[in-house]
Amino acid sequence: MSTGKVDALLGIVFGDEGKGKVVDVFTPRYDIVARFAGGPNAGHTIIFDGKKFVLRSIPSGIFDTGKLNIIGNGCVIAPDLFMAEAQELGNAGYDLRSRLHISRRAHLILPTHRVLDRAYEAAKGKQKVGTTGKGIGPTYSDKASRTGLRAGDILQDDFHSKYEALKARHQQILADLHYTDYDISQEEALWMQGIQYMKQYPITDTEFEINQALDDGKNVLAEGAQGTMLDIDHGTYPYVSSSNTCTGGVCTGLGVAPGKIGEVFGIFKAYSTRVGSGPFPVELFDQTGDKIREIGHEYGAVTGRNRRCGWIDLVALRYAIMINGVTQLIMMKSDVLDTFETIRACVAYEKGNQRTTTMPYDTSGWQPVYEDIPGWQTDLTQITTPEQFPEAFQNYVNYLENTLERPITIVSVGPDRAQTIEMN
Ligand code: IMP
Ligand code: MG
Repeated sequence: MSTGKVDALLGIVFGDEGKGKVVDVFTPRYDIVARFAGGPNAGHTIIFDGKKFVLRSIPSGIFDTGKLNIIGNGCVIAPDLFMAEAQELGNAGYDLRSRLHISRRAHLILPTHRVLDRAYEAAKGKQKVGTTGKGIGPTYSDKASRTGLRAGDILQDDFHSKYEALKARHQQILADLHYTDYDISQEEALWMQGIQYMKQYPITDTEFEINQALDDGKNVLAEGAQGTMLDIDHGTYPYVSSSNTCTGGVCTGLGVAPGKIGEVFGIFKAYSTRVGSGPFPVELFDQTGDKIREIGHEYGAVTGRNRRCGWIDLVALRYAIMINGVTQLIMMKSDVLDTFETIRACVAYEKGNQRTTTMPYDTSGWQPVYEDIPGWQTDLTQITTPEQFPEAFQNYVNYLENTLERPITIVSVGPDRAQTIEMN
């Protein structure tokens, strides 16, 4: 009997590569779509039939009504935000209650985790991470400190006393930080409603469900959040998120063995962006950067912040391909570069008389070394088959494939589901 595989779909730079759209396109090929890390810090934008949805905690497979979606044990979940997100989808005609399972082992984001997120950022001053403010770091800290609350706890009799104990612990930390300017009463009421709401969903041992499905020959798509350069271990620490966003995180965040991993799809954009603080060698501070931001609508889906923009970074991409074992590449937002005469690709970093093509321990202070590629100066948004791509664009694809030593199997030329081209 052949067993199924878990394919991973991962953002391999700083997030916002367009994972949501690709998951949505891929869903018909899978039986289960599962999130394995992160929480409402993610914002996955999906557009189809002229409607736009921004998903945060809920997997992007939910628009295909026949599929099971899972929020895995590696995720963190905010009950109030989950309720708001699920209800909005419900109002749009997508009732998720029977086809979204939540791992008992996923950790809960408390209102006080969000206050702690703000307090820690304020205490860091200029060194702030620029987090999304959703309480992600403090929740994963409690997980590692073995003081966290899990989704499975909400079904137990002592949930309220556990909640109060953790809240009191947080309030003590906040008092120690002299951070007293907060009032969670309204938020807490909504959060408690969210807890009741969550009970309508199966809160299950998702690791068993996934492994059983694999044994039955079914296939699973693991939907990444954020990107490899924001990984707690492999990203630009300390300017990172607090989970493993790489392939390793799929194994720990869903409870699947490494041998069960099949394809690893690495998603990147035809250029680079980053939200929040931290080193970003390819960042453009000039009109070119502004032009990319404007054409690419590079504003945060969760926080609305301006995304920092730059040319593609092949040093970062090669590193991410290695860390994740990427087998196929997917290039998003190619059309954003349609009007540029010349396109640049960062092939190395330089600092003083040092030069490196591998990711340095600390990426701050490095300057990009570019190679220039002629732009295609053609509108790509109407293209429907790979044969229609202009030669200059095909050359850019070939250049990236040769440099990165992986095939680019999908190219996206616009936000709609339909603007997704499978390469030959
Ligand atoms: P946190 O995940 O909210 O703790 O934020 C840590 C860093 O990761 C900040 O720089 C955020 O801007 C960034 N970040 C978190 N989630 C995302 C995402 O989904 N896309 C892009 N950046 C993100
Ligand atoms: Mg996003």
